[in-house]
Amino acid sequence: FSVLVLHGPNLNLLGQREPGIYGSVTLADINQMLEAEGRSLQTQVSTFQSNHEGALVDAIHQALNLHQGLLINAGAYTHTSVAIRDAIAAVALPTVEVHLSNIYRREEFRHHSYIAPIAIGQISGFGAQSYRLGLQALIEYLKTQTP
Ligand code: DQA
Repeated sequence: FSVLVLHGPNLNLLGQREPGIYGSVTLADINQMLEAEGRSLQTQVSTFQSNHEGALVDAIHQALNLHQGLLINAGAYTHTSVAIRDAIAAVALPTVEVHLSNIYRREEFRHHSYIAPIAIGQISGFGAQSYRLGLQALIEYLKTQTP
């Protein structure tokens, strides 16, 4: 398989951003881990980060012809972006939503996700491991869909 990992706003600052909440690993560390995990599961992993909503929408559109699934941490856009949700619904690629922090034990405004209702599922609260678990879950799902 080939899957696209999307990182939303402020995730480029991982490692230095609120380390008490998000830990000390950097986005480059996470991307490397996912590429290695993908290799061990015969899956090509591409990664993209943007602080701009429209750039994430464009990347989702372009994924349609290149990838079989999406793994997304939309950051704060999780809680605000109808546009990103609509883009995922439009391309209809199987999508797993991930968060480093457990969004349900944080502020009320983080409890709602626009993406969750159109995702296969969500993994939240396991730090960088949320991404690895999400990638595994996405690949397992894609296997069940492939004859
Ligand atoms: C986050 C949680 C969001 O509420 C927050 O805006 C982020 C990161 C997470 O991975 O825990 O930027 O998506």
